[in-house]
Amino acid sequence: MLVTGNEILLKAHQEGYGVGAFNFVNFEMLQAIFESANEANSPIIIQASEGAIKYMGIDMVVGMAKTMSKRYSHIPVALHLDHGTSVESCQKAIESGFTSVMIDASHHHFEENLELTTKVVQIAHKAGISVEAELGRLMGIEDNISVDEKDAVLVNPKEAEIFVKESKVDSLAPAIGTSHGAFKFKGEPKLDFKRLQEVKRLTHIPLVLHGASAIPDYVREAFLKTGGDLKGSKGVPFEFLKEAIKGGINKVNTDTDLRIAFIAEVRRVANEDKTQFDLRKFFTPGMEAIKKVIVERMHLLGSANKI
Ligand code: G3H
Ligand code: 13P
Ligand code: ZN
Repeated sequence: MLVTGNEILLKAHQEGYGVGAFNFVNFEMLQAIFESANEANSPIIIQASEGAIKYMGIDMVVGMAKTMSKRYSHIPVALHLDHGTSVESCQKAIESGFTSVMIDASHHHFEENLELTTKVVQIAHKAGISVEAELGRLMGIEDNISVDEKDAVLVNPKEAEIFVKESKVDSLAPAIGTSHGAFKFKGEPKLDFKRLQEVKRLTHIPLVLHGASAIPDYVREAFLKTGGDLKGSKGVPFEFLKEAIKGGINKVNTDTDLRIAFIAEVRRVANEDKTQFDLRKFFTPGMEAIKKVIVERMHLLGSANKI
């Protein structure tokens, strides 16, 4: 059975570990996520973006999630809407069977973000569903950024305190210097852990790290070796992920790592056997590559053996 985001994240918050929130756009990614959770004995959050919902259809997203959660009934799993852009989008997800939603109004001014988030919280809480919101903008911080520029982009801890108190949101994604995709940092990776700790101290709720893909060396190498191009790519180092958990992060959003690992295997098979056209011969190793990344991540974040 699907459980709420709160059910998974409050335990992680109380016990001080992180749960991977993995995006999926098809059956193969979802299957790999569940098999990993089964292997590592870990709770999971499975998430679909609005783009993923458009691609699969919301009935298919919920149907697959429910079927898989029945197949692995011992695994606590929440189905989460990633980066919901409107109240309507969140409402539709709730009505369709999602157990957790994100309203991402972080590009709006504070007041408008607060207003939209509060609306979603009211609707969601009536239905017993958890809500995540975001404060600050997701972008890498560079070495030469001034204090003022940093303050303009990253989360303001005092605002976070007010935002959480007034909106009654269940979890918060504070911008601390990560960004989405494979090219997160131009120079040395840098995250504002002090700011993170301050947000945790003032809000005391589960916090979320977006743009948390690490792009482990073996994943990048596999992609490059088969003729892919990811020059200059840089993920969040493993030590930073650990530091983020210590600073209060409990939900760790990961999509890019899975995409790169999967496609590297698809391309390898395509290169090695030009006569191959059985889809399963491409996707089975792709799923195995995703599983390796996820199981490793679950141990790193501390969610392994938490069932
Ligand atoms: O945060 C973004 C996720 O990686 C989902 O990306 O909008 O391409 O599905 P997408
Ligand atoms: P990555 O692009 O680092 O995997 O981040 C995914 C994410 O934040 C989804 O919301
Ligand atoms: Zn994100």
